[in-house]
Amino acid sequence: MIEVRPYRPRFAAQVFGLPPGTRLGPAAANALRQAWLDYGVVIVRGLHYGDDDLVAVSRVFGEPELAPASERQARGGGLRPDVWVVSNVIENGRPIGSLGYGEAEWHSDMSYLAEPPTASLLYALEVSPEGGDTWFADMAAAHDALAPDLKAAIAGERINHPSSLTATGDLRLGATRPADVRSAPGTLHPAIEVHPETGRATLFLGRRRWARIEGLDLAASEELLDRLWAHATRPAFVHVHRWQVGDLVIWDNRRVLHRRDAFDPAARRIMHRTQVRGSAVGRG
Ligand code: OGA
Ligand code: MN
Repeated sequence: MIEVRPYRPRFAAQVFGLPPGTRLGPAAANALRQAWLDYGVVIVRGLHYGDDDLVAVSRVFGEPELAPASERQARGGGLRPDVWVVSNVIENGRPIGSLGYGEAEWHSDMSYLAEPPTASLLYALEVSPEGGDTWFADMAAAHDALAPDLKAAIAGERINHPSSLTATGDLRLGATRPADVRSAPGTLHPAIEVHPETGRATLFLGRRRWARIEGLDLAASEELLDRLWAHATRPAFVHVHRWQVGDLVIWDNRRVLHRRDAFDPAARRIMHRTQVRGSAVGRG
């Protein structure tokens, strides 16, 4: 039987007793999906997953979404298009994956899409002995704890989620550096979203760098975004995951921001990630 043990009352839980990904029955699938909605981050440990298991468990949450095209091209052929490799390992002079070994700044995955992924799944094949922890911040809790003046300042506002940079600050393939934040290409999303499945209000911030609040002058936008980010990433809303090989972490990309600590470039870290397509209804 599936057991769910929360790290916090309403955020981040470990799930025990999950059958292998390719053999999930409807009861286990429903329990996993419900834990993901309830806690935002679900952690399963001690797995021996291949990509078929990872893709099968991803389908519990919906249809697969392809990883960023530029990074699939940059990595070169050979691997399946539905699994994105996050790694610092270099083989034959080429990185086998994305994001390297540096710090990855706080972000939501692929929020430059009009319908960003609903779920992201990250599975650890090789981990660094130190560093490389992944941090998750609960934007539903952050919303609920907004000071009234800050909440009033962002109510009804939309944020431009820039599309040109990866979480480690690299330009995506084909992207150019804009003259300034006002001309950075991206997609507008409301600063506060109602989660389509739980009905909870949540902050939806994307990433800080090159973001902009629509209709505000640059200085006002920067000032308000800085206040918002300082609030949203307070330790009270954060759960830090220290990886072991065989860990699978599934997060609700609509509710949760994540970042990663840097790690030793000489260490090897290999993760396989999938993401689940956003639905055409529900955001707004
Ligand atoms: C990701 C990501 C961070 C990490 O896969 O979307 O941000 O810990 N990964 O590798
Ligand atoms: Mn990410």
